[in-house]
Amino acid sequence: MEFSMIFILSNTLLLLSSSAFAKTASPPSLSLSPTPAPAPAPDFVNLTELLTVAGPFHTFLNYLESTKVIETFQNQANNTEEGITILVPKDSAFSSLKKPSLSKLTDDQIKQVILFHALPHFYSLADFKNLSETGSTPTFAGGDYTLNFTDDSGSVHISSGWSITKVTSAVHSTDPVAIYQVDKVLLPEAIFGTDIPPAPAPAPTPDIAPAADSPTAQSAESKSSSPSSTPDGSSSYKITTFGVLANLALGTFGVMLLL
Ligand SMILES: *[C@@H]1O[C@H](CO)[C@@H](O)[C@H](O)[C@H]1NC(C)=O
Ligand SMILES: *[C@@H]1O[C@H](CO)[C@@H](O)[C@H](O)[C@H]1NC(C)=O
Ligand SMILES: *[C@@H]1O[C@H](CO)[C@@H](O)[C@H](O)[C@H]1NC(C)=O
Ligand SMILES: *[C@@H]1O[C@H](CO)[C@@H](O)[C@H](O)[C@H]1NC(C)=O
Repeated sequence: MEFSMIFILSNTLLLLSSSAFAKTASPPSLSLSPTPAPAPAPDFVNLTELLTVAGPFHTFLNYLESTKVIETFQNQANNTEEGITILVPKDSAFSSLKKPSLSKLTDDQIKQVILFHALPHFYSLADFKNLSETGSTPTFAGGDYTLNFTDDSGSVHISSGWSITKVTSAVHSTDPVAIYQVDKVLLPEAIFGTDIPPAPAPAPTPDIAPAADSPTAQSAESKSSSPSSTPDGSSSYKITTFGVLANLALGTFGVMLLL
């Protein structure tokens, strides 16, 4: 009798002390785990390198180098608070240019076309909402070389007066450098005029991407063009499967408790 009382008491004490130990022991390990890493922000963003690995943007990069505009852009990225936003057409956008061939332009005009693809300010994707309210936005080409942005429920459309295109993915978007991939070469009204109407945009059929596309670009394009297709169906299927499994597990647990 007395022995069992002692046994129970000692057991209780043991439990109490072990829980007390657990309480005192756990805090130190918690305070050790969050290691604040003072991430030093990289100052220099190498535009050439970014454009070399993404895309493919070889045609645009070749123009940037042959016109030396790359130095203007890199200087803006290196040395200004304003930063830069570059709108880069893929190689396929250049190869699908038909009528207004760039080969007919003078060197100065080509330089203007390339300068036309950048804005002397860093814009995050969310900032384009503001731009759609301000109307004509100046580019590096200056003067009449302006672009109009419209935010169509999260998808950014760009009008150059001659061509209408849209942002299809973000290659880089960290202040002070933003690089966005666009569907078409931006042709300035100031060079190509307004005579040729910018085709009434048959929106439902986006340009079929060539097989050599990078997987990131493809996923971005498919996301923006078909938001409500198979992914929704498969995810809801997963959720119901999970629910069934969870119920089964809970049921089994309940039976075990009853036993
Ligand atoms: C930028 O990257 C390019 C391509 O990788 C390289 O050739 C060039 O030397 C780099 N420039 C600087 C200043 O690091
Ligand atoms: C930009 O900065 C890098 C690294 O400091 C430097 O090598 C490069 O020459 C600079 N380029 C321009 C155009 O300022
Ligand atoms: C966008 O508009 C908001 C509110 O009007 C303003 O605070 C913000 O600075 C604007 N951003 C840009 C990039 O103009
Ligand atoms: C841009 O918008 C302004 C004001 O709405 C308009 O006058 C101009 O024609 C537009 N320009 C282009 C290139 O779409």
